[in-house]
Amino acid sequence: MTDTTNDRLTLQHRAYRPDDLDTVVALHERAFAVLAKSHYSPDRIAAHTALVRDPAYAEELARSHLRLAFERPGVLAATAGWIRVPGLAPGVPKTARIRKVFVDPRFARRGIARWMVSDTERRAWKQGCRAFIVRVTVNAVPLYEKLGYEATGDATMLTSTGADLPVVLMARTTPPAALAEEPKSLD
Ligand SMILES: CC(C)(COP(=O)(O)OP(=O)(O)OC[C@H]1O[C@@H](n2cnc3c(N)ncnc32)[C@H](O)[C@@H]1OP(=O)(O)O)[C@@H](O)C(=O)NCCC(=O)NCCS
Repeated sequence: MTDTTNDRLTLQHRAYRPDDLDTVVALHERAFAVLAKSHYSPDRIAAHTALVRDPAYAEELARSHLRLAFERPGVLAATAGWIRVPGLAPGVPKTARIRKVFVDPRFARRGIARWMVSDTERRAWKQGCRAFIVRVTVNAVPLYEKLGYEATGDATMLTSTGADLPVVLMARTTPPAALAEEPKSLD
């Protein structure tokens, strides 16, 4: 567990464990339903709910270097993770794909996602990744623009319901932003 002060919030964060599954799925379902409804129709929100409830999603979480941030013990505020993917371009051999960035609507717009993505990038950077890509749902594009990502194309996130989700492909090849403080890892 790590403590870090985030404006008015003191977040505690640690690595994901398999017994976190239900809590994480509930957060992902709720965050998208509330915070993405301005950009996605109800059938697409329902498709996202089906996606996160699918057993395959649990496998994705387990291999995504996922970190959990708690507002206080037992109150999950946010998640973020990454996986290594094939190089973005020749000469940029190690690329991290940022994923599973979700913030509890009660704690939205307080800089948590910005902090979580930067922390995730720094962890991937320590593993040798020198480029970052992300498939961004349309509602989250301003977050990644603020973090210096640029759009590289459009794509579709396929879902089991057939109500597929349009997403924006974004990338950045500059180092992660410096954090206000270097978190002390206790896990
Ligand atoms: C997208 C999401 C992760 C942002 O989390 P957050 O903690 O509220 O974001 P932050 O407070 O760190 O915002 C950082 C910056 O991103 C931009 N931003 C974030 N949310 C925004 C919104 N709804 N509208 C416009 N800009 C937004 C702003 O520039 C913001 O800086 P500011 O508050 O100083 O203006 C959150 O809304 C969420 O969980 N959405 C549902 C799940 C999702 O879409 N995840 C992304 C999948 S790719």
